Parts: sequence; C-alpha cells; structure tokens
Amino acid sequence: MPISYDGQVVVITGSGGGLGRAYALEIARRGGKVVVNDLGGAITGVAGQESTSFADKVVDEIKAAGGEAIANYDSVASTEGGRAIIQAALDAYGRIDAVVANAGTMRYGEFEDLTLEDLNALLAVHVGGSWTVAQAAWPHMKQQGYGRLVFTTSSGGTLGNEKLSAYGAAKGGVMGLMHNLAEAGAPHGILCNALMPNAASRMTMGIQPGEMGENPWSAAMPQYFDPRYTAGLVAYLASDACKTHHGIYSMLGGRLGRAFIGIAHGYAQDAPMDADVIAANWDRINDDTAGYGIPANNTDEFRIVAELRGIGVQTG
Ligand code: NAI
Repeated sequence: MPISYDGQVVVITGSGGGLGRAYALEIARRGGKVVVNDLGGAITGVAGQESTSFADKVVDEIKAAGGEAIANYDSVASTEGGRAIIQAALDAYGRIDAVVANAGTMRYGEFEDLTLEDLNALLAVHVGGSWTVAQAAWPHMKQQGYGRLVFTTSSGGTLGNEKLSAYGAAKGGVMGLMHNLAEAGAPHGILCNALMPNAASRMTMGIQPGEMGENPWSAAMPQYFDPRYTAGLVAYLASDACKTHHGIYSMLGGRLGRAFIGIAHGYAQDAPMDADVIAANWDRINDDTAGYGIPANNTDEFRIVAELRGIGVQTG
C-alpha cells in the first residue's frame, strides 16, 4: 500500500517556496490536508519584505492539482505565531497530525563580521520556530496519542563550515531540540526526527562557488539538488508509516543515510585522568576504528560505558 495521508492534517512551515513547497505538494498529492505557512520574507529574515504571495501560490498549485490546502502567513519566530499556525490547522480541518518545521533564514560570513544580532535572529527562526509550532501542536498530539514532528537541521549545524558560525549554531540547536523532543514525545506516540537537506533553493542559489570553502563535488552533481529529492524523505518521516524516532537523515547527491553521534570506546582507568595521561592516550581516545557506541539517548551512554567497564547494575 502506498503511503497515504488520507484524513491527516500537516503543517509545513516556510512552505511558500524551495524545499517546503516540494514537501507540501508531495504530502497533498498523497491526500494530506496541508497548512502552507510562510511569512514570505527576505532570505536573511530582515523585516519589511513580507508577502502573502509565497504561501498563496503554493496553495493554488495544490488546489490546481486536486489537493486540499490553506495558507497561513504567521511568523514561526514567536509563541503567538506558532499558536496561530496550529490554530489555523484546527480551525480549517479540526486536527493536527504532523508538523514539518522547515521555515528558515540564512546569514553567513566571516565569524568576526557576524553579530550577536545575527545569531539571535537565526536562533529565533530555526530553534524558536521549531519550538513554537511543536509546542502548540504538542497537547493535541498528546491527547490523540499520535504525532509526527520533522525538524530541519543542516550539515552547517551537524558537521560545520568556516562561514556558518551563526547559522550552524542555530541548526545545531535544532538538532538538540530534536534529541530531546524525540525522548519526550515517544511515550505519547509523538515521533520526532530531523533531516539535513541539500537542495537548490533561493537560500543556496545566491551562494557563489568557493564562498563556503572549496567544494568541487557540489558543482559536479547539480542534477541531485532538485527539492523533490528531499520531498520523499519528508513525506515518509511525517507519515504514519514512519515508526522510528530520534534520527537525523542526510539527503545529499541522491544518497539518503542516517547520521549519528558515535562515541569512541576510548581510554578508561580507575583514577582521575591527568593531562599527561590524556596526552599519552590521545590517539586511543580519538580512535574511531577501535570501536564506538551510538547512544540512543543520554542515559544509554551510561549503559554503554557501564558495559564496557564491566560495571554491573542491580535490577528489580
Ligand atoms: P527558502 O528560503 O526557499 O525557504 C525558506 C522559507 O521560510 C521561505 O519561503 C521564507 O519566507 C520562510 N520563512 C522564513 N522565516 C520565516 C518565519 N519566521 N515564519 C514563517 N516562514 C518563514 O530556503 P530552503 O532552502 O527551501 O530552506 C528550507 C529549510 O531547509 C530551511 O530551514 C533551511 O535552513 C534548511 N536547509 C536548506 C538547505 C539547502 O540546501 N537548501 C541545506 C540545509 C538546510
């Protein structure tokens, strides 16, 4: 059976263009009722250029293809905005099944040229904007014992780049929020995952070759940057076919894979390690070829280390 969104309502923030538009079209094509949220702002998030046309156009496209959607123009970056976006779903369709937190803005440059204001603006839309919509949807999802949260992180946050200190900090924050809401939501049937997309959009098209460091591979695979490459992943993660949580998925060059945080087995001893001992064991501490654990959550790291160290636990 193909994955279906029949009877389901999905909010997709920032879906008036780029990646979000592709997600909205795909989920609507599969029968979902979609709230196309987009404040229609500038790439940098600087106020003054907002337009309702972004969301309206995508709603028109969905309707022209026989789907169901409404537009919403609130900003994700405030508690009231997040509530209004979820309320729009409830008012129009009476329920909320999935939230795709995709809205985002971009500021990049040399670290010394970026300001605390830049950082705070990006934190507000990426971390704040994932937080507000998830929090507004949370009680409804909890009550129905079902929900899907799909967050948008980025290789800038999970892996790093010389020009993305502010953006990467915000996207790293989104990853941290996912780790925690995945744990908080699972007992209530709310499954939270994150993705690292790579797509041609207005956000990335303005970046000149070499501006984010030498990357000959990017130019060598332009055919894979169509947002539709990522739309299938989101349509899976936001659906009831997805039964797993707490994952980060990277879509790049037509390859989809789980990203994970592994901690090397490293070096252990039964006395505090001083700096000289650490220096003497530095290679081993860094060695990812001699085994590593992938903790499912923070208590799982305790389990892994206790097992490695032969420390038993009394149960019952
Ligand atoms: P985009 O600029 O085309 O889409 C972002 C949309 O979010 C815009 O339509 C914008 O109006 C909307 N938006 C911005 N602030 C908003 C707010 N406060 N409230 C509601 N809507 C708001 O860019 P793209 O590439 O489609 O980005 C989508 C998401 O994917 C973003 O979170 C971005 O950071 C992330 N991303 C994109 C990558 C790429 O290669 N395109 C790579 C990694 C992450």
